[in-house]
Amino acid sequence: MPRLPFTAPWLLAPMEGVTDPCFRAVLLARHRPEDLGGACTEFLRVVDHPYRPSQVRRHLGPSDSSIPVGVQLMGSHESALAATAESVLQTEAAFLDLNFGCPTKGALKGCAGSALLREPKRLESIVRACVEACGASLPVTAKIRAGFDDAESVEELAQAAEAGGASLLTVHCRTRSEHYTPEVDWSRITRAVEAVEIPVCGNGGVQGHADLERMRSITGCAYVMVGHAALADPWIFSGQEVSAQAAAEFLHEYSLALESAGAGPRKRAARLKQLLKVWTAGRLISDAPDRKNWMAERDPERLLVAMEARARAGVTP
Ligand SMILES: Cc1cc2nc3c(=O)[nH]c(=O)nc-3n(C[C@H](O)[C@H](O)[C@H](O)COP(=O)(O)O)c2cc1C
Repeated sequence: MPRLPFTAPWLLAPMEGVTDPCFRAVLLARHRPEDLGGACTEFLRVVDHPYRPSQVRRHLGPSDSSIPVGVQLMGSHESALAATAESVLQTEAAFLDLNFGCPTKGALKGCAGSALLREPKRLESIVRACVEACGASLPVTAKIRAGFDDAESVEELAQAAEAGGASLLTVHCRTRSEHYTPEVDWSRITRAVEAVEIPVCGNGGVQGHADLERMRSITGCAYVMVGHAALADPWIFSGQEVSAQAAAEFLHEYSLALESAGAGPRKRAARLKQLLKVWTAGRLISDAPDRKNWMAERDPERLLVAMEARARAGVTP
């Protein structure tokens, strides 16, 4: 089985429409492999046509970090997934992840993502097809939710991924029907850990740096993946407390990276607001009225200029 490429046991979760290559590049540049083990692209939806290596490379974005980044695929068409896995092999991707958790109607309609939680045998077969395509060169990992309507089958699902040959299993402890509810049940991660031999990555409900070790010691999982909380504080992995200026620099750099990738002011401001809505790092946002002011700014140019000023001066303009 190919070796996992992670140094640290903490991973950044893929989040469609949020953790794009620009966001990842800015976040990864602020970490060492000892602080952040790895990250993964948002899902690449494979319907019935495989992607070429150039298309996978574009989805992956530039790879100039020493932190390993994997490509995530989502689909149910085995041969198209396996052929895309062969394309992934020809890129800089450090691993291939398979998405069995996406709860959206689109995924369900295509019998992909979380729809496969109702078909463990099919899930196993998809994992196997990709593992065979990747051979000894690239680890294949699988990401599941704890179940579709309930968590009764979390052991069976974990074992299906293991039987298919996955090198690592991420368990998002919410079920499909729980979507992103604030309450989480980490005992479902413990059940998966106890059901398989392969390393398990626990996911769901991490809120602060201390939760990383806490999830590992409570559930016995080997790795922990962080989603929402990394959007509020991208330094959650190292636990570093940064200044307001460093926090503003992150956001400004993200905006510049988006601009270089061709995004106009409206899109850049919308992406920044997505983060400002929850942002806590560096106490850049002092209180609720301050957050409200940032969110209320309707002129994208003004928002971007204000963020640039914060990044340059480190003081409220
Ligand atoms: C906006 C958004 C987009 C997401 N996109 C993906 C995705 O592309 N692939 C995936 O496996 N999970 C995706 N997820 C799920 C996250 O990776 C993660 O499993 C989930 O947020 C639970 O972790 P958390 O409680 O730490 O946020 C997404 C979640 C959100 C909120």
